[in-house]
Amino acid sequence: MIAEKKISKTLLDVEQIRNDFPILHQLVNKKPLIYLDNAATSQKPLTVINAINNYYTQYNSNIHRGAHHLAHLATEAYENARKTVAQHINAAEKEVNFVRGTTEAINLVAATYGRKFITKGDEIIISALEHHSNIVPWQMLCEEKGALLKVIPITDDGEIIFEEYLKLLNEKTKIVSVPYISNALGTINPVKEIIAAAHKAGAIVFIDAAQALPHQKVDVKELDCDFWGFSGHKVFAATGIGILYGKESLLEQMPPYMGGGEMIKNVTFEKTTYNELPYKFEAGTPNIEGGISLGAALNYINNIGLDKISAYEHELLEYGTEKLLEIDELKIIGRAKNKSSVLSFLVGDILPYDLGVLLNEQGIAIRTGHHCCQPLMNRLGIEGTCRASLAFYNTFEELDELVKGIKKAVTILK
Ligand code: ALA
Repeated sequence: MIAEKKISKTLLDVEQIRNDFPILHQLVNKKPLIYLDNAATSQKPLTVINAINNYYTQYNSNIHRGAHHLAHLATEAYENARKTVAQHINAAEKEVNFVRGTTEAINLVAATYGRKFITKGDEIIISALEHHSNIVPWQMLCEEKGALLKVIPITDDGEIIFEEYLKLLNEKTKIVSVPYISNALGTINPVKEIIAAAHKAGAIVFIDAAQALPHQKVDVKELDCDFWGFSGHKVFAATGIGILYGKESLLEQMPPYMGGGEMIKNVTFEKTTYNELPYKFEAGTPNIEGGISLGAALNYINNIGLDKISAYEHELLEYGTEKLLEIDELKIIGRAKNKSSVLSFLVGDILPYDLGVLLNEQGIAIRTGHHCCQPLMNRLGIEGTCRASLAFYNTFEELDELVKGIKKAVTILK
C-alpha cells in the first residue's frame, strides 16, 4: 500500500492543487481542517472565487437586456459558461438550461414533461438508492395523475439488481429516473444499460448526475439519456446554480416551468408566446455569477484532467477502505464493485452523530445521518451512517488522520 501511495503522487500534484483552495488552509478546533464532506458540497478553487469577484467588481449587470457595455460583458460571460457546460457534457447549447440545482432540474421535468405526458395507470421507475429529490417530485406527480411509482431493489452491497429492473419495465413505464452515483454509498450505476433497457420499453430516462460531475468524464450523447441534472456547488462552483440537460426534441414538446421575463417571445393581455430554447425554461433574472462560476469550475477540473482525478480518487478510495477496515467493529456501508470515492461506515453501535461530533473536535469534517436517503437507510436496516466523501484535493495522510480520529473517538464513546 505504501508503494501505491508513492505512485499516486505522480498522478496529481495534490500539494499544488491544495494551494488553489484557500479554505483548506485553516485550523478547526486547533487542528488542521480535514474536509471530507465533498458529497454535500465541494470547496471552491481561487479561479472560481476570482470569477465571481471579477463579475461584481468589473461587470455586474443584468444579462440579455441592456444596450450597454457591462450588460454585453455579463451576457457574454454567462453564455460562454453555457458553452463550456455544453462542451463538457457533450450537448448542444440550446439543450443546456440553467436551473438552481439538481432538485430543480428534477422538479422541472416532473412538472412539465410529467404533467403533460403522464396519465392514470402509467408507471415511473426509480431505485432504492434515491436521494429524496429523486423520489418526492415523482411521488407528487404520481399522486396528481394516478400513476404508479416503482422501485428497483438493491443488494445488501448497494448495487441495483438489474434483472429486477428489467422485470419492472413494461409498456406502462413512461419515465425511469436514477442516480448516476449514489450520494450515500458511492455506488456507480450502470446507467448506459439502464437507459438502453428503458428505451427498448419506450420510456424516457432522467439521470441524476449530481455526484458524477466532480469525479468522472460524462457524455450525455454517448449515454443517450433524455434528461440529466446536476448542481454547480458539488462540482467546485457556487451554490444556487445547476443544469438541466434535455434532448432538444423533448424540451421543445414541454410547456414552460415558470412564467415571467426572459422566457417569453411576445406578451399581450390575451396571449403569450414563449421564447426559444434554452430561454423558455429560464424565467427571471438568473444566478449570473453562479453560471459564470460553473464555467470557471469546469475549466478548472478539465485543466487538471478528469481521467487523472478519477484514477487518483480511486486510489484514495481503496486506501481509505483498507485502512478503515482495520478498525475494530467498523463496517463499510456500500460495497459495490463499481464505486465512487464515498466511504460510508458504522462503528459497532456508536451513533453516527456522536462520532461526527468527536471527529469535528479533531478538525475532521464528515457528514452523519441519513444523507437525504431515508428509504435507502430503511432498506439497509439502519438509521444512518458516518460518511467521508472525498475529492481530488484530499490526501492519503488525511485518511490516516481520519482513521486515528475514529480510533480516538471510539475510546471515548465505548
Ligand atoms: N445531497 C447532499 C449530500 O449527499 C446534500 O450530502
